[in-house]
Parts: sequence; structure tokens; C-alpha cells
Amino acid sequence: MELEAVKSSYARWAPVYDKTFGIITSGGRRAAVGFINGLNSKSVLEVGVGTGLALPHYRTDLEVTGVDFSTDMLGKARAKVEKQGLKHVKELRQMDARSLDFPDNHFDAVAAMHIVSVVPEPEKVMAEMARVCKPGGKIVITNHFAKEDGAMAVVEKISAPFANLLGWHSDFEMATVLKQPNLKLVEQRPLPPVNMMTFLVLEKIQSN
Ligand SMILES: C[S@@+](CC[C@H](N)C(=O)[O-])C[C@H]1O[C@@H](n2cnc3c(N)ncnc32)[C@H](O)[C@@H]1O
Repeated sequence: MELEAVKSSYARWAPVYDKTFGIITSGGRRAAVGFINGLNSKSVLEVGVGTGLALPHYRTDLEVTGVDFSTDMLGKARAKVEKQGLKHVKELRQMDARSLDFPDNHFDAVAAMHIVSVVPEPEKVMAEMARVCKPGGKIVITNHFAKEDGAMAVVEKISAPFANLLGWHSDFEMATVLKQPNLKLVEQRPLPPVNMMTFLVLEKIQSN
């Protein structure tokens, strides 16, 4: 999606997100945060933090940084942090994920839940997430990826031209996120509802 479309689409989604798409995708969020909580990590970056639905579920001894391009979505996340007193949330910043304002090798883990089919230039976003992740660190992705056949594949193709209206690309290929030479796939499994979503863990390769 173009950045302008992200802005307008998520300004529309922000007020209703938690009670609509947020519910459908809760399994992915639970799986991703559960995985990160089980790591021996301290610093976590959540890219495309949205309305902050995952934030209350991180271990309270973690330091979580969230970024999102949409100020409307971020506003909802900030309200949750304040209302629920989420002290483990270090900061929430407005940022384009294609150009992350963090040093190289900075975070122990990076989460990208339901964003890779939304962002413009997903390959660039993958490269940025790899850059800011420490060697040996994990990048956890949950997303819907294009199916090869069946009824779902038909629905994806029909809705594909409406990405800017929907707020995501329905026919997004998993291969797009597996191209980074410094990331290796260490886990892949289907997620509810009805295996519509996929859970991926990529590890940043230690360079010699
Ligand atoms: C479907 S929502 C997912 C939100 C959250 N991760 C969740 O699981 O509920 C996609 C999010 O990606 C954000 N986004 C899209 N393009 C972005 C970009 N270039 N940089 C940062 N965030 C972006 C949108 O603003 C939106 O909040």
C-alpha cells in the first residue's frame, strides 16, 4: 500500500479495529507475544504496533518499543498504555517502518504482527527489521499469506484490487518475507482461525 493509503485507511480502522479485525487476529498476537515472552530477551521492538492490542500481554520485565505510521492507531495505543499503566512499554513512536530510527543490532526481538501485507515496500521493511535486530535475535511475524488454491485463494484474488480500501493486500506472498540473506526461517506453523494466518520465526544470522 502507498503511505497515504495507510494513513487514510487506518484513520478509518482506528475507532473500530479492536472490536473487528483485532478480534479475528487475536490468535496470532497471542502466539507471537507468547513466543517472545519465552525468550531470554530484554528489548523488544513491535513494528506496526497499531492500537497496541499486544502491549498488555508482554512480560512486565521486558522493555517494549512500538512504532507505527498511523497517528490515529498510535493514539489508541498510547491511551491503552496510560489507562492500563503499562510500565514495560518504553516508548511509542510515529515512524515509517521502511526507515527505522534505531541503531544496528539494537533489539533482542522484533515483532511484526499483521503488518507485512500492509506496509509499502515490504522487502525494505524486512531489511530494516533485520538491521535493528541483534545477531542471534528473533523476528516474529504473524500474517495472512496467499493460498495456492481453494475457496480462500479465490476470495483473495477477488479482494486484491481493493487493498487501499481494505487496509492490506489479501494476496500477499510469503516468499516476500523470506528473501533476506541475513535471516533464516526457524519456525513456521498455521494459526487460527481455520489456519487462515501463519506464524513465522526468523533468526538473524551471526556474522563472523
Ligand atoms: C493490520 S494493522 C496491525 C496492527 C497490530 N500489529 C496488530 O496486530 O493489531 C497494520 C498496522 O501497520 C501500520 N503500518 C502500515 N504501514 C506502515 C509503515 N510504513 N510504517 C509503520 N507502520 C505501518 C498501520 O498503520 C497499522 O497500524
